Amino acid sequence: MAATKASQSKAGATKNLKIFAGSVNHLLAEQIAKKAGVPLGGVEIIRFPDNETFIKISESIRGADVFIIQPTCKQPNDAYMELFLMIDAARRASAARITAVIPYYGYARQDRKDQPRVPISAALVAKLLEAAGADRVVTFHLHAPQIQGYFDIPVDHLEFSPVLLAYLKKTLKVKNLVVVSPDTGGVKAANFYAKALDTGIAFVAKQRTSGHEVKALNVVGDVKGKDAILIDDMTSTCGTLIAAAEMLKANGAKSVRAAVTHAMLNQTGLDKLKTSPIRELIVSDSVPLGDLKGYPVTVLSVSDLFAKAILRIHNNQSINELFKV
Ligand code: R5P
Repeated sequence: MAATKASQSKAGATKNLKIFAGSVNHLLAEQIAKKAGVPLGGVEIIRFPDNETFIKISESIRGADVFIIQPTCKQPNDAYMELFLMIDAARRASAARITAVIPYYGYARQDRKDQPRVPISAALVAKLLEAAGADRVVTFHLHAPQIQGYFDIPVDHLEFSPVLLAYLKKTLKVKNLVVVSPDTGGVKAANFYAKALDTGIAFVAKQRTSGHEVKALNVVGDVKGKDAILIDDMTSTCGTLIAAAEMLKANGAKSVRAAVTHAMLNQTGLDKLKTSPIRELIVSDSVPLGDLKGYPVTVLSVSDLFAKAILRIHNNQSINELFKV
């Protein structure tokens, strides 16, 4: 009798729920759908010879609560276009509600007009998502949390911290730890982690000399004899992390680890990482990661976090629980 009730409530929990994936991180989407207890919906994504994209949702979604998963990285312009087209297709196919699930929000670093005659790309993307027909957005560790304000629709902003802190508490001797921000922009986040782990805090003053080159200038804070953990939102060339790690070692740190949410690692970054003072790089699977065998990278999956968020949103339940550390 109890078993019948449980299965009935599970069926109710996913009734009319449909999850679809764009092409950028299919693996993550498959894991999210599996954990949410629904099959990934069928969608055809075709690239024409002239590079235009064609989308066709291959099952009825009339009246459905549709979630479309697409981190907008790798080729962000194509990734966004694919997402816009999927949202448009879902809207025209009479979905009851469409949620864009964006584990990595491309263009987040262009979030303000910091020079004359430049766009605010992160705001434009928000407008385009709404214009395409998104009713709400679920996203993950935005480079600037204020980006939520660029939307007039609800945004659920998930964090890596509960997953990362659980791992750090399990694996590190927190007594000798110092949390370090690799630049001044990340001090607030580092402070959050330092408080949660009850450790000291430090930061590195950096200067970006080009899109690929970073120079660390100075360390502020006590790192001598400590196990340092660098915290950042993303990395691609590993330039910021490695420059900071070298500076920490030069200032007497015993060991250096790093944790970033979005690992847009390119081959150059990975090769540099292997010979750098960074003992372990901890990342989420928000973006596609490729083959990391032989590199000092630990991947913490956030598929469970996203599956829980989708189920809670679908069932009109609070997602507050998902931020508990
Ligand atoms: C910058 O503000 C970001 O938080 C990252 O520190 C930066 O994007 C990392 O890029 P890279 O790994 O190429 O230095």
